[in-house]
Amino acid sequence: MVQSIRKAVFPIAGLGTRFLPATKASPKEMLTVVDKPLIQYAVEEAYAAGIRQMIFVTGRTKRSIEDHFDTAYELESELEAAGKHELLQVVRSIKPDDMQVVYVRQHRALGLGHAVLCARELVGNEAFAVLLADDLMVGEPSITSQMVRQYEEWRASILAVQDVPREETRRYGIVSGTALNDRLVDVSGIVEKPSPEDAPSTLAVAGRYILTPGIFDELANQQQGVGGEIQLTDAIASMLRREKIFAFRYEGKRYDCGSKLGFLQATVDLAKTHSGVGQDFTQWLAMREEATPAFDAQGVEN
Ligand code: G1P
Repeated sequence: MVQSIRKAVFPIAGLGTRFLPATKASPKEMLTVVDKPLIQYAVEEAYAAGIRQMIFVTGRTKRSIEDHFDTAYELESELEAAGKHELLQVVRSIKPDDMQVVYVRQHRALGLGHAVLCARELVGNEAFAVLLADDLMVGEPSITSQMVRQYEEWRASILAVQDVPREETRRYGIVSGTALNDRLVDVSGIVEKPSPEDAPSTLAVAGRYILTPGIFDELANQQQGVGGEIQLTDAIASMLRREKIFAFRYEGKRYDCGSKLGFLQATVDLAKTHSGVGQDFTQWLAMREEATPAFDAQGVEN
């Protein structure tokens, strides 16, 4: 079968203010969970879904991302000369030969919707994926693979969603609609970052989307929304007037690596299953737990 979704857009021009001072001079997408930067996890997820063209919407101070996905000629020849074949493989696998990486610059940080609109010429008239790298998603098959499968069935935009506690609705796009089955919701409305009182549901959009190209006209006509930004959520809401959109409860786990807590949780979980350090780290954690007195949720020593 011909690959239905061939292109993925990675909006990476954001300032990463939630992670200062780490993100003052280097991009938040280059923050490393165990031994890989966040952006590499997202690119690998898209690649695993059969996507081969990666479109980065970048901004100033993001050059290290371009370098990361470029050939490191000196490094590779040194590793080769030293016979360090495993490391050479690690370095080369960042950008497999059949993967294409292209860049477009977002000159002003006008929001997620604006970032996606910047990719319009590169995407053209076909459905595409959007991956927000600060949401690190773990699933088997990859979350994007699961969504591509849904797209192939429905030929409509698919939004990755998960249930969140009502007090957290202000952090997400929230959808409402009719459940078709355990996993799929026929979306009738979507609103960006509503207060818990106003939220139409607790079904929150995670940073993965499959969008039909109709989104670009909606984005081009979008006024500034929440936070003075051109919101992707608002464009999706407008598109609902013309197209069917589905929300998909993916199977897997999401780490909000844009927040310090989520980032630390991802680091611990992924370190525990890491092929190199996993066993030692898990052992160390267990020993440490035995050696240190336990604390209850309030931080009171038991
Ligand atoms: C963005 C979207 C929001 C979505 C979230 C997922 O918000 O605007 O609708 O729920 O990503 O992570 P951000 O986290 O960039 O503020």
